[in-house]
Amino acid sequence: MYFMLNNYNKLKNNLEKLHLLKTNENIDTYIDLVNKKEKTLVDALYELTSTELEYKDDNAKNALIKVAGFPYNKTLEDFDFTFQPSINKEEIMDLKNLRFLTNNENILLIGSPGVGKTHLAISIGIECAKNRYSTYFITCNDLLLKLKKAKLENRLNDKLKTYSSYSILIIDEVGFLPIEREDADLLFQLINKRYEKHSTIITSNIGFNKWGELFKDNMIANAILDRLLHHSKILNITGNSYRIKDKIKNTEDTSSNNKLEENMTWFSFKKSYIFILIFYYKFILTLTFYITYLLKVSV
Ligand SMILES: Nc1ncnc2c1ncn2[C@@H]1O[C@H](COP(=O)(O)OP(=O)(O)O)[C@@H](O)[C@H]1O
Ligand SMILES: [Mg+2]
Repeated sequence: MYFMLNNYNKLKNNLEKLHLLKTNENIDTYIDLVNKKEKTLVDALYELTSTELEYKDDNAKNALIKVAGFPYNKTLEDFDFTFQPSINKEEIMDLKNLRFLTNNENILLIGSPGVGKTHLAISIGIECAKNRYSTYFITCNDLLLKLKKAKLENRLNDKLKTYSSYSILIIDEVGFLPIEREDADLLFQLINKRYEKHSTIITSNIGFNKWGELFKDNMIANAILDRLLHHSKILNITGNSYRIKDKIKNTEDTSSNNKLEENMTWFSFKKSYIFILIFYYKFILTLTFYITYLLKVSV
């Protein structure tokens, strides 16, 4: 049997073929609203297209966040700035405006483990992805493994091209694992390709003065730092580790308990001292009384 499609069915088919998912979902509601004269045709079309655009925009943002390869999702709002007073909150929140991307500036987060370097790098990366910038997160160790593999397979240039084309590349944990001299060359090539073209975020627990040791070559360390630091924001985080903050608190509690114990011991020592004094005083009194009595009797 052959069915002739009416225009309503043809419209639904078109919406499906055009991948206008939200419009397809909402079209019946809006046809009813227009029929009941509760909405004009223009308003209905405007609202339908706005919903569709919002949906597509959200999808694109989520896709960019997904391909960025973040190990976990953290935002700047999740960051407790009161715990890390060495960080200027206003300066960090301003990064949301992404001015550093426009100026091709790098961000270098330096500090000991647990101070929030990766958290901040991820949050800034998420802001970039949300604003439709191509973003990629990788640990330094994984990056070097990938570049080394590509070199062995004669694909180094392609790989370097891929990593240098991201609007923002986050290289996490520089210096967590030892870096071979040849690997330092690979890192230099990548940093050099990105220099003044795109922004790079680096996190490291090693101060810049030790990068010569880290790369086992002062020349290459200086060449890398030169390009990274030329246009950059350096965030030195000097506080405590957030990972062990409760443990530190417990230690503080224990130490205050110790103080309490000390005070208690001192108090009981003082108490027994007073007790001895009173006893001694009473003893002298009794003795004096007794001697006086004896003297009187003898007289
Ligand atoms: N100031 C902070 N406020 C909230 N969470 C924090 C803060 N600092 C660190 N964290 C959390 O502690 C954990 C370790 O932080 P991370 O960024 O991985 O440290 P780092 O990279 O400096 O070693 C993460 O779960 C992170 O979200
Ligand atoms: Mg980290």
